[in-house]
Amino acid sequence: MAKIYVTCRVFDDEIERLCDAGHDVTMRDQEGPISRDELLRNVSDIDALICLLSDEIDVQVIAAAPQLRIIANLGVGYDNLDVPAARKRGIIVTNTPGALTETTADLTFALLLSAARRIVEADEYVRAGKFLGWELLQEHLGHDVFGKMLGIVGLGRIGTAVARRGHFGFGMDVLYHNRHRNTEAEEEMGACYVSFEDLLARSDFICVHVPLTEETRHLFDKDAFRLMKNSTILVNVARGPVVDEEALAWALESGEISGAGIDVYENEPKIHPGLLKLRERVVLAPHIGSASEATRRLLARIAVDNVIAVLAGREPINPVS
Ligand code: DGY
Repeated sequence: MAKIYVTCRVFDDEIERLCDAGHDVTMRDQEGPISRDELLRNVSDIDALICLLSDEIDVQVIAAAPQLRIIANLGVGYDNLDVPAARKRGIIVTNTPGALTETTADLTFALLLSAARRIVEADEYVRAGKFLGWELLQEHLGHDVFGKMLGIVGLGRIGTAVARRGHFGFGMDVLYHNRHRNTEAEEEMGACYVSFEDLLARSDFICVHVPLTEETRHLFDKDAFRLMKNSTILVNVARGPVVDEEALAWALESGEISGAGIDVYENEPKIHPGLLKLRERVVLAPHIGSASEATRRLLARIAVDNVIAVLAGREPINPVS
């Protein structure tokens, strides 16, 4: 009987599938991230680990789990895992590619629209009983979205899904910057490949969709914000450390840029106080990019499918390459 540890609460039917496959499953049934000590204590005799972004699975954790055969990460990004260290030990690492593309693209657009049209501020205003009727010079004058220039940094699966929404739904022209040219997107929606600096200078809305790597850490720093138009709105649903949060707070406060829709933070769950105090055209979400019920169920199902396959001696379905 293989032992499986799950670091967070997962849908009952998925835990049942693991049990039905004959495994001994322990699920940590608590809110909030697992502590380092608890994690180290619970991996000592396990064969499989189901974990998430906030669990740092490094050399120490891998060394503390001598029997470990598979790490199934609940999500597409895996910057929380030391993949080379796992590979060295012959441990298979899996993720959930593709499962959250459209859901995360929806959230990107929700943040973009909310910041541009000041939806959160307007909602608070109505609830506070401040709405006294239509006026020409109303409190919440925002930015148009239709027909504007959309800049996508990282035109992979999610970036492309966002570009489609912008281009086909909102008549936006699309600029992109990526490691490689995306000729399919160029043909499909006339997306135009430009340098990072050019994209910053020309876009009305900039959406961040790059993974966190040493090259992308603090890609958006003060210099980047200085290149943007003062009317630009930045949306980050990728990884917090891609944006220097201190620089973002400065850019918003000083009017270098106009607004932001942010779903991910440099030191989650902490949020820079300079961001928390800004309300005008600044919308903050608690890392809910993939948080539709259907998509979260799918993430769990994919992780469980991978664990069942590997523990049965079959190939993983979604190995991280
Ligand atoms: C992802 O899948 O990368 C989400 O951000 C959760 O980690």
